Amino acid sequence: MGTMTEFVKVIYNDEEFQLPLVVGTEGEKAIDISRLRQETGLITLDTGYANTGSCTSSITFMDGEKGILRYRGIPVEQLAEHSSFMETSYLLVSGRLPTRQELTEFSVLLNDHSLVHEDMRAFYENFPRSSHPMGILSSMANAVKSFYPELQNLEEEINMTVTRLLSKIRTMAAMSYKISRGHKVVYPRPDLTYGANFMNMMFDSPVRPFEIDDDVVKALNVFWILHADHEQNCSTSAVRMVGSAKVNLYAAISAGIAALWGPLHGGANQAVIEMLSDIAANKNMDRAIERAKDKNDSFRLMGFGHRVYKTFDLRMKIMKKMCDTLLEKLNISDPLLDIAVELEQIALKDDYFIEHNLYPNVDFYSGIVMRAIGIPTNMFTVMFAIGRLPGWIAQWKESQDDPNWKLCRPRQIYTGPAETEYVPIGKR
Ligand code: CMC
Repeated sequence: MGTMTEFVKVIYNDEEFQLPLVVGTEGEKAIDISRLRQETGLITLDTGYANTGSCTSSITFMDGEKGILRYRGIPVEQLAEHSSFMETSYLLVSGRLPTRQELTEFSVLLNDHSLVHEDMRAFYENFPRSSHPMGILSSMANAVKSFYPELQNLEEEINMTVTRLLSKIRTMAAMSYKISRGHKVVYPRPDLTYGANFMNMMFDSPVRPFEIDDDVVKALNVFWILHADHEQNCSTSAVRMVGSAKVNLYAAISAGIAALWGPLHGGANQAVIEMLSDIAANKNMDRAIERAKDKNDSFRLMGFGHRVYKTFDLRMKIMKKMCDTLLEKLNISDPLLDIAVELEQIALKDDYFIEHNLYPNVDFYSGIVMRAIGIPTNMFTVMFAIGRLPGWIAQWKESQDDPNWKLCRPRQIYTGPAETEYVPIGKR
């Protein structure tokens, strides 16, 4: 809990009430309204929770106005430069950076749990070929629970669940890709790092052995680090909310994956590439800008805007830099990158986007990076899910360990009909 030394006065019906003010590490302030209804009979109304803090948390700090993002206090730009996704996962879940020995032990543990139960392959093989990988991944995350008996010791069970999920998610993701293509599944290899292992499971084939490229693995690590946590976003809130009913972690993660699938959230990375491809095919950039500005058109510029960032998304800046370096190293020229850059330049000079504080977000260039390393478009959001998993787990763990834990159960203001008599069916 943050510190609570000040109070806010609320005057209602000429009566004065004192509500505590909670102050966070960086000076952010919140009015603690937990006793508001009890004392005044009022609730607060905040559709979309834009002004509601759902918890206190010591995991991630972000400042949308200043463009700051830190995991456990460490700026994400430092992690992107120096850390690996595994080390960042350890940091998020355990609360501190691992020692060399701890990191080695963690990697060995993840390797030991990287296989997926062979019987789960039958599930994959029975999904229609056209199934979206996010739907498959969400179902599979839930299904893993049925394959592993619960351990008696709660702490051991939680540690084992965390390990299984972190390790198996990349195997499950790669398997869904291989099976969707009708190709032979590639098993994880203990001699490879987390990212290299994933790329090998995706692209190794009996007729063309996959060559691991260190630049690609580095890019993948940065991509995952940038996505690893983002405080109380939609999918994380889903994980916390579902988890608050004390459901098992697999089910909570499955709910998070489902929420992330949405095009306004993680699904935006796929939607951006679809939008850029459409602009490339139909040469209709001006039309896209006009449609995005039209109040009567539901079309939005995908990869633009953010609930919290009202300036550049720091993640997008790191992603764009990485995208430029990677394409140069791989000697790739992607026409969609040129379209993205042009679209960004036009939008940033346009009054509508300026007035609405709409800047490119992390998803705007991430799809170009994914395309460069060979990930198919419908797997982009799965890549985001692999990255966000440690964040979901850390947030779930924090909520479960919170001494002030509560079932998440918001209230509402009812606006439907007042009491109405039931009319028998023959008289309607
Ligand atoms: N294109 C055109 N207009 C937009 C856009 C956009 N991308 N985003 C917001 N607006 C307008 C919106 O029409 C509204 O206009 P007005 O006030 O005139 O009616 C105003 O900006 C505020 O929009 P909002 O939906 O109330 O704002 P929000 O804070 O709820 O929106 C958002 C956040 C991400 C849902 C929205 O910006 C959006 O739909 N962006 C496109 C999808 C996208 O790129 N999502 C990825 C987010 S970053 C990755 C992640 O963390 O999930």
